Amino acid sequence: MKWLVTGGAGFIGSNFLYYLRGQYPTDQLVCVDKLTYAGNLSTLKGLMSAESPLSAPGFHFYQENICDRDRMFAVFETEKPDVVVHFAAESHVDRSIDAPDVFLKTNVLGTGVLLDACRAFGGIRFHQVSTDEVYGDLPLDRPDLFFTETTPLHTSSPYSASKAGADLLVQAYGRTYGLPVTISRCSNNYGPYQFPEKLIPLMIINALNDRPLPVYGDGLNVRDWLYVWDHCRAIDLIVKHGTTGETYNVGGHNEMRNIDIVRLICRELGKPESLISHVTDRKGHDRRYAIDPAKIGRELGWQPETAFRDGIARTIRWYLDHQDWWQDIISGEYRTYYAKMYGQREEIR
Ligand code: NAD
Ligand code: TYD
Repeated sequence: MKWLVTGGAGFIGSNFLYYLRGQYPTDQLVCVDKLTYAGNLSTLKGLMSAESPLSAPGFHFYQENICDRDRMFAVFETEKPDVVVHFAAESHVDRSIDAPDVFLKTNVLGTGVLLDACRAFGGIRFHQVSTDEVYGDLPLDRPDLFFTETTPLHTSSPYSASKAGADLLVQAYGRTYGLPVTISRCSNNYGPYQFPEKLIPLMIINALNDRPLPVYGDGLNVRDWLYVWDHCRAIDLIVKHGTTGETYNVGGHNEMRNIDIVRLICRELGKPESLISHVTDRKGHDRRYAIDPAKIGRELGWQPETAFRDGIARTIRWYLDHQDWWQDIISGEYRTYYAKMYGQREEIR
């Protein structure tokens, strides 16, 4: 089987490629990634051979923009994939608030190009990796409410709006052209190779450097955290056994308040909570995300396997053991990003 994975040099896509390599050693893996600030070729070095970095037996890397129709069609023509798993996206809410344009291009138009390529070449299974953020947020005082697959789309940020737009395109191509598509909407992931603009790696790295830990607003916002490997298993199950045309929510019933995550990271690293600094809130900040994963459990037998206490310990250990990986990142464009995004946030208490 030949898998074409877009965005495979990013956080979840790279974990998915490693998952596939372990699970199906003889399958062919093709990765298409533009290598934006969030994509890192060194993340994939475990899949490459020293002699020919971009192409090892069973693995082929293309540095391409998914919005480039001609180049995408050429890749499909050359590779003739059986399945496309589409991770490539601009993925950070704060960046989408600062500059929405590229989110619309990559997340909506780029998805459209891939769907057109699947249509043109025929017989290709397409899986859209989406997010629980398309459902908007839930109130903090209604812990009985969860997102199900029938919850209306109700987006808050340019990021989530662009992902919802892409999901609607995927559904439309399924219905209109009969493309065999599925969608997964997962809660917040954590684990190895996550870019340090996101909450957990940012806090780990800042704490290790004894830098302030910038918690937005009151820190009471709730996210439902899932270890990335559990997400990879869910996608694999959906591709192999899911019903085409269907959407599956993926989450582990592991709701945590941001402030509690940051305190836990301080404890695990032996750092004082005095590093925590409450700063200006994110605009339009979603209060609570919580997934009801009953459908994927019932229909595909998926259950999360990694308890948060184990996953977070493993993740912290990974960042301690892979300082080269993130030192490289935080010494580049990230510095400008950090100064711009956090320089404008004031300490609020
Ligand atoms: P990421 O930002 O770490 O990685 C995105 C990857 O896409 C990068 O390698 C980047 O270079 C590549 N990319 C961006 N624009 C591209 C383009 N125009 N052409 C080709 N490649 C391009 O993101 P992530 O956290 O790994 O998320 C992957 C997917 O999973 C996204 O679609 C995201 O919406 C979804 N998702 C993420 C989470 C999460 O918690 N991180 C949760 C649910 C769903
Ligand atoms: P993030 O990792 O950006 O994921 P998302 O916005 O997609 O859920 O943020 C997770 C939560 O952490 C979110 O409520 C915003 C908050 N947050 C902070 O408090 N400080 C930070 O520096 C960052 C990056 C996020």
